Amino acid sequence: MSKSIYVITGSLGFVGFNLSKFIIDSGHSAIGIDIDNNSDPLNGWRHKELQGIGVETLKADISDKYQIESVGNKLSKIGNVKSIFHLAGLAGVRKSIDNPDQYYNVNLRGTFNVLQLFESVGAESLVFSSTSSVYGNIHAEHFSKETDSLDTISPYASSKLSAEKLCELFSNLYKLNISVLRYFTVYGAAGRPDMSILKFIDLIYKNKPITIFGDGNQERDFTHISDICKGTYDSSKLKGFNLINLGRSNPEKLINAVRVIEEKLGKKAKIVYKPQNEIDVNRTSADISNSKKLINWDPTESIESGISNTVDWYKENKESLEKLG
Ligand SMILES: NC(=O)c1ccc[n+]([C@@H]2O[C@H](COP(=O)([O-])OP(=O)(O)OC[C@H]3O[C@@H](n4cnc5c(N)ncnc54)[C@H](O)[C@@H]3O)[C@@H](O)[C@H]2O)c1
Repeated sequence: MSKSIYVITGSLGFVGFNLSKFIIDSGHSAIGIDIDNNSDPLNGWRHKELQGIGVETLKADISDKYQIESVGNKLSKIGNVKSIFHLAGLAGVRKSIDNPDQYYNVNLRGTFNVLQLFESVGAESLVFSSTSSVYGNIHAEHFSKETDSLDTISPYASSKLSAEKLCELFSNLYKLNISVLRYFTVYGAAGRPDMSILKFIDLIYKNKPITIFGDGNQERDFTHISDICKGTYDSSKLKGFNLINLGRSNPEKLINAVRVIEEKLGKKAKIVYKPQNEIDVNRTSADISNSKKLINWDPTESIESGISNTVDWYKENKESLEKLG
């Protein structure tokens, strides 16, 4: 019997790359779709690694309907597409302020095109990566629940929330199995160089200063990529429409994450404090009762073990990562 094929948009990105590897390790086939424009210095590194494990990357811009139609034709010919993981998108809260048009174009229009692709190839399910940013500023001690009222304070969050609604509409109207996942600050091997953990590891390792916006007491529900891959993959088995938080549910102060990195590297960070950006929230934290109930999700990596294996990955690969920092 031929293997099931899983399609991953954004396969050259941090989560898409790790999920592609997870799918291959689980004994399935994976095909990636990515604009492949080297927007992240690690894209090329991830591309080669995926080629090495037999994952082909189809180059396409998801915001271009014709390019996605052409991908759809190729996938229909290949056949046997089981699920689509839609992870391509523009991430980053601060950058979205300067380029809102691009964020809506890729995150909303692009999601519309991927939903049409999903229908055209006749896959069983689609999983879409949304973000904890849709919750906006929450109170101390609060754990965000999928049913909370939302307070989106950036074009990034608003474009993702609009895409969530589109997914829900498609699921209800066309009777499609679609799960929307709200990820909470994902980190780990081959991570995004613009995100705090990998950026701090690189700079502290090189004895360069790191910048903290605010006093370092802002809390993030840091969630390890291995837990995210498992939850994302398992969500593809769900029926109907589902909205699920994937966060560790154990928020950590940013300054404590820096202390864990220092400990693991055996180096002291040189910290430069700058005023907090008003678009940055004070706390993210996930209520995960729904993910426990629906996919039996139980994140296992602590911040200590997760940072430890991220540092190990960094040290093994740092020669390839020269452009970081
Ligand atoms: N990493 C996190 O902590 C986090 C948290 C919440 C939500 N998310 C969401 O999860 C998804 C994956 O995140 P990530 O950290 O891997 O991001 P990433 O930036 O590393 O990966 C995104 C990928 O999408 C591709 N892409 C961008 N525009 C495209 C386009 N027009 N057409 C085709 N491909 C395009 C990029 O080339 C990149 O490879 C994103 O949608 C992001 O918003 C991530």
